[in-house]
Amino acid sequence: MDDHFNYQNKQLHVERVALADIAALQGTPCYVYSRAALTSGFRQFSDALQGRDHLICYAVKANSNLAILNVFARLGAGFDIVSGGELQRVLAAGGDARKVVFSGVGKTVAELRMALEADILCFNVESAAELDRLNEVAGSMGKVAAISLRVNPDVDAKTHPYISTGLKQNKFGVAYTEAVALYRKAHAMPILRITGMDCHIGSQLTETSPFIAAVEKVLVLVDALAAEGIALEHLDLGGGLGICYQDETPPAIADYIAALLGALQGRTQKLILEPGRVLVGNAGVLLTRVEYIKPGEEKNFAIVDAAMNDLMRPALYDAYHDILPVVRETENDTLPQAREGTNAKSPSVFEIVGPICETGDFIGHARELAIAPSSLLAVMSAGAYGMSMSSNYNTRPRAAEVMVDGDQVYLVRERETVQQLIAGEKIIA
Ligand code: LLP
Repeated sequence: MDDHFNYQNKQLHVERVALADIAALQGTPCYVYSRAALTSGFRQFSDALQGRDHLICYAVKANSNLAILNVFARLGAGFDIVSGGELQRVLAAGGDARKVVFSGVGKTVAELRMALEADILCFNVESAAELDRLNEVAGSMGKVAAISLRVNPDVDAKTHPYISTGLKQNKFGVAYTEAVALYRKAHAMPILRITGMDCHIGSQLTETSPFIAAVEKVLVLVDALAAEGIALEHLDLGGGLGICYQDETPPAIADYIAALLGALQGRTQKLILEPGRVLVGNAGVLLTRVEYIKPGEEKNFAIVDAAMNDLMRPALYDAYHDILPVVRETENDTLPQAREGTNAKSPSVFEIVGPICETGDFIGHARELAIAPSSLLAVMSAGAYGMSMSSNYNTRPRAAEVMVDGDQVYLVRERETVQQLIAGEKIIA
């Protein structure tokens, strides 16, 4: 558990606020974020990079709530975006377009235009076709576009196949063997200004070795380009550092940075990183309430009011999220569930599931918890790719979002209403 979420007396707190109070105030399901946790993560990056020219571009897709983007913007962050919508969020949150890098394999003409208009820092170009399109669009606007090529280094990130991006069978980036030729082509395009090289090999990496392997391959290309007189100002090594959900042991941020700096072997280019999950994952929880207990022949189900539309990771990746009771039965329990022999609710093993009409709608399997109808649960490590991947499946309005700062509670996104969901729909004559 992140330091900013812990039990005080029997109550699970975020910073100095009891989660039960937030549930009483805002209802459930509700995402709750700790500002201190967000700040602490960001500072670990900037401290580790002190003395080195760098820019930490938070990967907006991990959690794009404006309050979160604003916290990072105020700490000096840049942003890694993958759509025009994310650019608009960054600007609405007070972010600086001059610190924005734009990744993604499918940038539309409209998105390229919007980003050129805003004067973003760099386009991470992912194909020859995108290079041509960008050249055309920038030319038509009388603008010069700063670019780096996202190189696919063909290294195994050793993570879930759906979130592995740096293998040559993946759709991402320019093939390693074609990168130098494409840089040459870009170099000959007067409307494009080559500023860097980019790579991102995947997400939820729990070892440093794949990162190092990628850096080493990238440096070979950097040197080849330098020999041809194409000098780069920055190296963007992407995001991907993992967090602990269950028993993973990812490197600490400082160790990860030290490993990267070591692999860079004294290169002085500005270092850009695109961390997402590691900055927000353990800074947020999803609060949910038990609606029903349904004992079954083979399994007991606890049906909660959060579902796969709120948190898709278990359904999509079979991802594990810890589930803790918001109110613990006994004072000193190290375990979330009550011990035998107390007069508390005795713990049982539950399938924690949502109300959606799919068997894939589960939050956790076989969890031992002492719960009853109306018990509150906290789904831990839900700050990254939780709300940002939520949907309205089953016409479920999306959850409210709250940010805690010390003893202050801020509603940073109102719970959606069904009225909002159907507002754009029409019945035909
Ligand atoms: N940069 C690029 C170009 C990316 O595609 C990503 C994530 C990041 C940075 C940030 O990676 P991070 O530091 O968060 O690992 N929905 C999945 C994760 C998808 C990651 C997509 N790309 C999940 O819930 O595990």
